[in-house]
Order: sequence, then C-alpha cells, then structure tokens
Amino acid sequence: MIITSCGNSQALAKRVAKKLRASFSPLTISAFPDGDRYLKWNTPVKGKKVVILHSFQPHPNESLWNVIWAAETAKDLGARKVILVAPYLAYMRQDIRFHPGEAVSSRIMAKHLNACTDKIITIDPHLHRYKSLKDIFSIAAVSITANQLIGQYIKRRIKNPVIIGPDWESYQWAEVIAREVGCGHTVLEKTRFSSRHVKSKMTKQIVLKDKDVIIVDDIISTGHTMIEALKKAKAQKARSVIGIGVHGLFVENGLGKMKKAGFDQIITTNCIEHNTNKIDIAPLLVEELKKEK
Ligand code: R5P
Repeated sequence: MIITSCGNSQALAKRVAKKLRASFSPLTISAFPDGDRYLKWNTPVKGKKVVILHSFQPHPNESLWNVIWAAETAKDLGARKVILVAPYLAYMRQDIRFHPGEAVSSRIMAKHLNACTDKIITIDPHLHRYKSLKDIFSIAAVSITANQLIGQYIKRRIKNPVIIGPDWESYQWAEVIAREVGCGHTVLEKTRFSSRHVKSKMTKQIVLKDKDVIIVDDIISTGHTMIEALKKAKAQKARSVIGIGVHGLFVENGLGKMKKAGFDQIITTNCIEHNTNKIDIAPLLVEELKKEK
C-alpha cells in the first residue's frame, strides 16, 4: 500500500502510513508557466493499492482537481485500487438547487470522484438532505464518525457538561455524544438567512445555568452558527461555553469572531489541520485502512 496526499493533511497521512507500516510517497504538484497543472507520482504504483489522504480544506476547488489528477494518473500507471481518504469532504452542503439555475455541487463532485477512484472514506460528512453517501457515490463509500472520540474527550476533561446542537441536523452529533458522555442535551432550531446570517432559538428547554455548555457541530465555517448558540448559553448564565467542531474551517476570521463573542475554548479534530486540533482521528483511519491491507 502506498499513501500520499495532495498537500493538505500531509502530517496525518505520514502518521497513518507509519502506523500501517505502509510507505508515504509525496507527489510533485506544480504548474507550468501558463498555469496548467503538473503532477507526478514519484514511486511506481503499478499493481499497488494507492491511498490519497487529503482533506478538502483549505482550497476546496484546487483540492478536487489535484485529487482527480492524482487518482487518474495512478490508474493510468496501473494502480490496482485507488482509495481516497478525505477526512473533510467539501461541497456537501450544496445538496439541492436552492435557487433556480444553481449547480448541485455535491453531485458534480461525486460524479468526478466516481469516475477516477474505487473507494472513498470520509469522516462525518455533511449529510443533511442525503440519507447516506450512497445517494451520490456509486463507488464504495465509507462514512466514519468521530462522535466516540469527541465523547471521550469531553468525559476526560469537562466537569459539568451539557451538550447543545446548534441546528436540527446536528442531532447526529449532539444526541450521540451526550449519550456517550452521559449528560443532557438539546438541539436548537436555526433559520439561515444567508451564508453569513443565521438566527437560532431553543425550543426544547434545558437548564444551562452554572453548566459547562458544549456546542457541537460537524462544520465550523464562518462561526456564526456557533456564536448564535453561544448567545443562548450566555443568556442562561452558563459557567463556561466550549465549541467543538469536527471540521474547523474558520473562514473569514471565524476563530477570531468566536473568541471575541466569548467562547472559553474552541476545539476541533484534525480532519482539517488547524491550531485548534485537540482530537486525533488517526486511529479511526488506521482501523478502516487495515481492512485494505
Ligand atoms: C450546516 O448546517 C452545518 O452543520 C454548520 O452548522 C454550518 O456549516 C456552520 O456554518 P457557519 O459556521 O458559517 O455558521
């Protein structure tokens, strides 16, 4: 088995390779003077299983093209199987045509990956209107959750926890993590007015006073969803408020805005490399990839 990445997730890819006793082989990716992409495999892949371990953040558009180039080239060079491990899979939020004429990005992304890879493995993909990855992928598609790791982290470090999911679809994390921790939880109702403007309300009330409130979500993008939920906890005099995201994108100074709004801690998994990473998902990937050895 040969493991590589297209730039993102290099450290994670190297560690996973080491744990699996597989070789990590870096790709050469650059551009011709006119901007055309140049990609080269630096190790023979003929007859081998190839794993491209690459998160689609930062630079989601560049990531998609680099992965396609790497996968197509591996196939062309005779690789036996091409597996994409994308701890964070971009484009999943555009799962319908919200306005006439819009591209349904998730379908387009999946169509391209179906054509050049044999299997995709991802962590907590944004499944909102899709029930499973099978709705868009015809290749083998494995979705792993970091819920247990997040639950264990909370159990070890947070004294008096209550979990909030900031919108209804976050029940997939809030409910399961609360069960793992053995604490109460509630899920807010969120209305999204635009990419940068959301409002939420607490319909199922829960006592937050003097509690360590943990807001858990799959994606922290601009941070506005987290900040809206934080306001509810602050209004009820929570003792502390901690934001946990599986995928910390923190675009448009999202982290700065969250800190300014009053979060005591902001924690993410290393699905996307960031200085808020505290929860390591490598063991999940190692377990899954062992099945391929
Ligand atoms: C969407 O429903 C996701 O689960 C997140 O709640 C959303 O992506 C967060 O976006 P933002 O941080 O920009 O509010």
